[in-house]
Amino acid sequence: MSGLAGKNIVLGVTGSIAAYKAVQLASTLSHRGAHVHTVMTAAARGFVSPLNFQALTRQAVHSDVGEVDREGRIAHVDRGRAADLMIVAPATANTIARLAMGLADDIVTATWLSTTAPRLVAPAMESSMYLAGSTQANLRTLADHGAGIIAPGTGRLASGHSGVGRLADVDAIIDRIGETLGLGGDLAGRQIVVTAGGTREAIDPVRFIGNPSSGRQGIALARAARDRGANVALIVGAIAVAPPTGMEVIEAASAAAMKAAVEQATAGCDALVMAAAVGDYTPAAAAGQKIKKTGDGLSLELTPTDDILAGLSGGFIKVGFAAETENLLENARAKLAAKSLDAIVANDVAASGLGFGSGMNRVQIIRRDGPITEAGPAPKRAIAEKVMDVVVELLGGSQQ
Ligand SMILES: Cc1cc2nc3c(=O)[nH]c(=O)nc-3n(C[C@H](O)[C@H](O)[C@H](O)COP(=O)(O)O)c2cc1C
Repeated sequence: MSGLAGKNIVLGVTGSIAAYKAVQLASTLSHRGAHVHTVMTAAARGFVSPLNFQALTRQAVHSDVGEVDREGRIAHVDRGRAADLMIVAPATANTIARLAMGLADDIVTATWLSTTAPRLVAPAMESSMYLAGSTQANLRTLADHGAGIIAPGTGRLASGHSGVGRLADVDAIIDRIGETLGLGGDLAGRQIVVTAGGTREAIDPVRFIGNPSSGRQGIALARAARDRGANVALIVGAIAVAPPTGMEVIEAASAAAMKAAVEQATAGCDALVMAAAVGDYTPAAAAGQKIKKTGDGLSLELTPTDDILAGLSGGFIKVGFAAETENLLENARAKLAAKSLDAIVANDVAASGLGFGSGMNRVQIIRRDGPITEAGPAPKRAIAEKVMDVVVELLGGSQQ
């Protein structure tokens, strides 16, 4: 289950050309189990219909600060009070100014003032409007009042010009919402290191020995830890998906680079979760120039890479992954013992449609002290939450 499930999120939509992207945001949040309550300015309704949000979120959409229902509930007070988080996306220069001043004469500004939940604002406007001294000062005021600002991206703008001011990507906005909701979660105050993706061992400057790991499971683990309040360092090899925001991302292409990165990042950490598929062998010597095709056979001498987990000093929880194609439990238990792990996540990579490259996984989480948790088939994020449940248990519960 994602950290968004069951959360009440108030989505304020304002009169930007990017208002259509709020439809995608509302849809994705709802799909992930959040209850999305949309409030819209009059200008926003000129860009996109309230019906879009109502149909996608299955919640009433409010557009008028004067709305009171039959039970006497005042929309902005009611929405504000029930919110776990409020986000204004896209936020116009006009609404940002009005929020900074504390005005409350439309439903978005009134709900913003009414809520005590964490608040985020995602600006979207032309570069000149965004960079204007007044807009920057207003954003600073909002940040001083505790709001999170989701910085806009740079690229082509509605006017046809290029520059800063594009609404941040929907995925980045969702990352920030998850991160904000997770502050104070059961991993708050913890430092968690996660590795993801596959390593590449150079044969020559243009060829390597790699593996099909996409990094999806490791990235889901990093997101889950972040959304439960942890400070996360994510060490990535080759990955097929974009790394998330809200954490330190360290690139490490080869097994040796990953070993060095893990050793550095784990100093003082609380837990390490090694989901990366690290190569076991590397060419004895990488050729300095591209190896020419000759028509003859080619033999490569391979030497074993250092075992990252086995070589680490103690002082933190160690969770490994065992991707096996046969004798899953037996092989995983042997690895657990050989590498002095606290737990191992065993997955059968021979099962079709699961594991490598797929969005789904099925695993058994085996603790050194005995208990086994079965998880899946389920989305990798759901598997990640189960693994983090075990990490919290192994850490002796949350710190708060
Ligand atoms: C086609 C069009 C696109 C606009 N896009 C933006 C925008 O991306 N960002 C912005 O700050 N204002 C934009 N504006 C101006 C706002 O719509 C205007 O300032 C409005 O008063 C904002 O009202 P609101 O903040 O109450 O929603 C746009 C106006 C038009 C006509």
